[in-house]
Amino acid sequence: MDLISLNDWSDDDLIALLDLASAMKAVIRRPIKKVPTLRGKAVANVFFEASTRTRNSFELAGKYLGADVINFQGSGSSIEKGETLWDTVRTLQAMRLDAVVVRHGASGVPQVMAEHLEVPVINAGDGTHHHPTQGLLDVMTVRERFGHVEGLTVAIVGDVLHSRVARSDIEGFVRLGAKIRLVGPPSLMPSGLESQHVAVYADLKDGLAGVDVIQVLRIQKERQQSGQIPSLREYHDRWGLTQAALHWAQPKVLVLHPGPQNRGVEIDSQVMEDPVHSAILDQVENGVAVRMAVLYRLIGGEGVSA
Ligand code: NCD
Repeated sequence: MDLISLNDWSDDDLIALLDLASAMKAVIRRPIKKVPTLRGKAVANVFFEASTRTRNSFELAGKYLGADVINFQGSGSSIEKGETLWDTVRTLQAMRLDAVVVRHGASGVPQVMAEHLEVPVINAGDGTHHHPTQGLLDVMTVRERFGHVEGLTVAIVGDVLHSRVARSDIEGFVRLGAKIRLVGPPSLMPSGLESQHVAVYADLKDGLAGVDVIQVLRIQKERQQSGQIPSLREYHDRWGLTQAALHWAQPKVLVLHPGPQNRGVEIDSQVMEDPVHSAILDQVENGVAVRMAVLYRLIGGEGVSA
């Protein structure tokens, strides 16, 4: 079994995984976090794109469960000497790894790797396609705060066009019964995402009216083509999440951001630091718990007692 997109998994699998992640969270809150569940297993973190949260949390997740984890980065590897991705992957497999976690700038790479590798492949973000563990940790964070996901309205604000996070969030939240609003400049809104459960808004005030959750997306400067957004200043004026804009949403609105943040562009510092509304650091903690649950589920092991 692999994890390429949340749609690979059934609703029951998703819910079981979220429950397991809550048990894992109890484990990482213990004074001694390490459990021997995946002792004797080895995981490779193969990252061809920059990452802070995802890479480190997969590494810690593996280590907290007792696995050996190696980190492989595109730069500094034999890829720079001309080795193909395929030869790199075969080489890693020959080292008898039990799972490969992969992030790549090209959409579809984890899928191709999964077709060729015997061990489970976990997608840690591919191009603008999917980021399933981010979708899971976002759903977990909301479910934890509200006690449920069904019936909530989640606004995803910003650069939806380039966002694999948005795609995985839509999959996760819709599957658990939430409604989605995509809010942002029309030039950053892909076509084809609208559905019975997903509505599109260009105006921030309309899009945030009465929502329960706001997931703010980073402006993906590295993936922009010229002219897709006005200046960053103008972007902030029209779509940046300020404290004033929070008033358009439900009084108990929860603010999420997958990170890394461009403070003062898509989100203001005061909103990030807001102790009532911001769940940004909860997302980070839940990211470790979710990745422990995913590794446990895919590599197997003995029971975990929370
Ligand atoms: C996201 C990613 O890489 O897709 N970051 C993350 O994993 N937390 C979002 C982003 O880069 O904007």
